Amino acid sequence: MSQIDKCFNIEDFRALAKKRLPRMIFDYLDGGSDDEITLGRNRSSFAKYQLMPRALVDVGSVDLSTTILGQKIDLPILLAPTGQTRMFHHSGEGAALRSAAKANSIYALSSLSSISIEEAAAASTGPKWFQIYVWRDREIIKEFMARCRKNNYQALCLTVDLPVHGNREKDLRNGLTFPASLTARTMMDVLRHPAWLYHYLTGEKIELGNLAGSSTVKLPDDGNLMDYVAKQFDPAVDWNDAAWMIEQWGGPFLIKGIVNAEDARCAVDIGASGIIISNHGGRQLDFMPPPIEVLPQIVKAVAGRAEILIDSGVRRGSDVIKALALGADAVMIGRPYLYALAAGGEAGVNRMFGLLRAELARDMALLGCTKISDLNPDFIHYPR
Ligand SMILES: Cc1cc2nc3c(=O)[nH]c(=O)nc-3n(C[C@H](O)[C@H](O)[C@H](O)COP(=O)(O)O)c2cc1C
Repeated sequence: MSQIDKCFNIEDFRALAKKRLPRMIFDYLDGGSDDEITLGRNRSSFAKYQLMPRALVDVGSVDLSTTILGQKIDLPILLAPTGQTRMFHHSGEGAALRSAAKANSIYALSSLSSISIEEAAAASTGPKWFQIYVWRDREIIKEFMARCRKNNYQALCLTVDLPVHGNREKDLRNGLTFPASLTARTMMDVLRHPAWLYHYLTGEKIELGNLAGSSTVKLPDDGNLMDYVAKQFDPAVDWNDAAWMIEQWGGPFLIKGIVNAEDARCAVDIGASGIIISNHGGRQLDFMPPPIEVLPQIVKAVAGRAEILIDSGVRRGSDVIKALALGADAVMIGRPYLYALAAGGEAGVNRMFGLLRAELARDMALLGCTKISDLNPDFIHYPR
């Protein structure tokens, strides 16, 4: 039995990822900002909602398929954009892309991915979105859009919860840099993980694939990529910029990182086709509310004018059910698939999809609900 066959839930993958990765890399994956209050609440908030099953329903067949922005998928769990994925496993984004395609789900490629828009398109023909930021140089945005169009990306997703980087103190303490530099300070940590080190030293250099392959970007000579990226993010971005991007793209467009119902309304008013309620997995502003808690008011504000996804803290099939019953159309997961990738590469992510699918199907049957579209607030019980 391989190590990943002994993983039966996301927490098992997390424990295995912790063993396989140098501490500074695991902490970057796992950690949150400031006191990690939001990070913790993203999980604990799901526990506040109970599930109210219906009895004696024929659950002989449960259908988990659904349609998101016109794309039919086999389960309502999508892979969220995560930067620099090859740091967690040498097979990186390519493995996650292939696994998402195999599960017939959607993969969202980060702007800060370790492979380019073109390499991701070559890795899998499955449905793909591209996550974008507002760069100071608007020509970079136009170039990314043209490359996405050419490579058949179905949707763009603008992340709005990162006008500046969140304060992740574990990374500061660990001396983490991008690319990860092997210094006297980090060497002992890395040497304890020879398999990771071997791939890091012998594999392709980890870089920001979309920037390295760009004709517009001028990367700095000192190699400090994150410093360059931080300076390129435009903190003065506003709704006019988002509206400009929606117009430039002209196709399905999601805004990611919204927790405020008024912002959700603004997003729909400027033409967003989808909203991703997210606090960036507790990695940005600490004390942002957990998405599940603000979901009902955002559903009300959006009033069916856009599709709604949520991420941050989703770890169980029952979490997916709670989100969908309260009005989300689908969920996204970030760390869960990164843990699985770090634990066992592509096979790990395949196993994670299998476990989540089985969990969701079982919980739907136990709930007495056979179709995603039948989930509704009556399945949720709020204890007095
Ligand atoms: C290691 C890591 C890197 C991330 N990189 C990005 C990114 O490049 N762009 C982005 O919009 N969100 C990024 N996110 C946030 C995820 O898209 C997602 O919102 C978050 O992981 C969801 O929470 P969860 O990890 O609890 O599932 C990142 C998250 C993690 C854990």
